[in-house]
Amino acid sequence: MILISSLFLLAVPFLSTESAASELESYSYSPCTRLSTPKVPGAEVLSITGVEKRNYTVTAVPQLLPTPIFGLNFCEVDVVLTHPKAGDRVLVKVWLPLQHWNGRFQATGGSGYAAGNFDASLGPAVQLGYSSASTDAGVSVNPLSPAKWALRQDGTVNWDALTNFAHRSIHDMGIVGQDITAQFYGIKPQFSYWNGCSTGGRQAMAAAQRYPEIFDGILAGAPAINWATYVVAEQWPQVVMEEEGTFPSPCELKFFTTMAIEQCDELDGVMDGVITDPDICNFDPYRLVGNRFNGPFSSSGESLWYGLNVGAALDSLANTNATNGRRTGLPLFVNDNWIKYWLAKNPNYNTSSISYETLYGLFDQSKREYDAIIGTDNPDLSEFHNVGGKLIVWHGLADQLIFPKGSIDYWERVERLMGGSFKVDEFFRLFLAPGVDHCAGGTTIGAVPNDILKSLVNWVEEKKAPDTVPATLSNTPNGNKIERILCPYPRTSRYIGGDTTSAASFKCV
Ligand SMILES: *[C@@H]1O[C@H](CO)[C@@H](O)[C@H](O)[C@H]1NC(C)=O
Ligand SMILES: *[C@@H]1O[C@H](CO)[C@@H](O)[C@H](O)[C@H]1NC(C)=O
Ligand SMILES: *[C@@H]1O[C@H](CO)[C@@H](O)[C@H](O)[C@H]1NC(C)=O
Repeated sequence: MILISSLFLLAVPFLSTESAASELESYSYSPCTRLSTPKVPGAEVLSITGVEKRNYTVTAVPQLLPTPIFGLNFCEVDVVLTHPKAGDRVLVKVWLPLQHWNGRFQATGGSGYAAGNFDASLGPAVQLGYSSASTDAGVSVNPLSPAKWALRQDGTVNWDALTNFAHRSIHDMGIVGQDITAQFYGIKPQFSYWNGCSTGGRQAMAAAQRYPEIFDGILAGAPAINWATYVVAEQWPQVVMEEEGTFPSPCELKFFTTMAIEQCDELDGVMDGVITDPDICNFDPYRLVGNRFNGPFSSSGESLWYGLNVGAALDSLANTNATNGRRTGLPLFVNDNWIKYWLAKNPNYNTSSISYETLYGLFDQSKREYDAIIGTDNPDLSEFHNVGGKLIVWHGLADQLIFPKGSIDYWERVERLMGGSFKVDEFFRLFLAPGVDHCAGGTTIGAVPNDILKSLVNWVEEKKAPDTVPATLSNTPNGNKIERILCPYPRTSRYIGGDTTSAASFKCV
């Protein structure tokens, strides 16, 4: 954590005037190729390469970057490092704006089995004036498959790679990014942030739990915390379909979601196709079929983990493959690969054949072997709180991949552990977004937080705690935007009358 307020006075002239901006530009030309090797505790830096990029285009990437970004000017620094005895090779990429650096550093997270998204995450950060970093953690950059790194040649788990993916790369990237930023601009970044969703959200929480001194502000979207547990729970619908010998079609699954929304839409006083509080929705899918479809439970009836909320789409986790008129299960790549590589330790393991009994065993094994390294659900955030860090978590309530109740469960555990001596609200707030799917993608029909990073920056720098977060739904049938507010948990947004498309018609209760 870097808290040297006088540096801000130095930084201001660089940021606010035209001539100062060009001063910075001319000042920064040669250093891009002449930066020296950063010192990273616990790692050895193998190489550093700097190159200036002008008028650079970041192309759109489905799910990550909806529209391309044109005309970026920055210095790109590649730092390659390794850890003693691990034989790994970790790439950290740092992008430094050539003009209008905002004095801040932003580390960015990954998605699925990738620890970083590189261009798709660096582009938006640099466009906003941040110096920014992304890392491959020494594993592959393929979000869909860990096939290249999960197991060693001899078929055993590659613990070094998993450690990098789970948390070590967060530390290394933070140190490298801050060092390179300081060298390039001649002053340390005044504030450092973490920004990520899904796996990037899990990394965010790992930063708060394990490396509390690196980041002043941490933003975690739909965090993949409780990893060792929830990922196995994602397999549950597949096991049920297999064991019960019934494979609902996408159309049948959609029927459940639609019926749930129809029944509970109006509970919040507004007919907008969105369920604001799934917990007060008494929709009973059993009445429709007489089959169980809420989260996994053991043979003795004990709940093993949460299920999806009513109103969420079901066809990612209960996906099927219809070929030649025959329907078979199609497990999501996240649970499919976790079970194959880390639990069965066999890339050819058939996850479609898992029985209830087998799944209970996999639950236990996953927690026993991996919770300590990648569970990322330690509620003790006291160090992060002590150094003045601020944490915002947000999660779409219609997330169909990561159970939002896992985020709520975590918040409540932090509250139970730390809430006695002060208000958790002082440094950690959870915002739930009704009708919003995983990281605002997929089947999102609710208002999406439109600049939650700014809410975090205001909290860290201006001490303005976010009592609400503005949210917008842009792609409505009639093209008119719908504005809402998100509320810090356990409060929810309540309609108080007036124009239902205006945020002013809602308040947190
Ligand atoms: C920048 O790149 C765009 C294409 O993305 C091109 O049309 C434009 O001429 C370039 N501008 C300069 C100043 O090179
Ligand atoms: C669906 O099943 C067919 C036949 O078994 C197979 O060839 C195909 O690869 C499967 N599709 C997917 C997406 O797994
Ligand atoms: C996997 O298991 C399912 C269910 O038992 C079975 O239908 C399928 O044929 C198996 N696939 C392979 C490749 O063995």
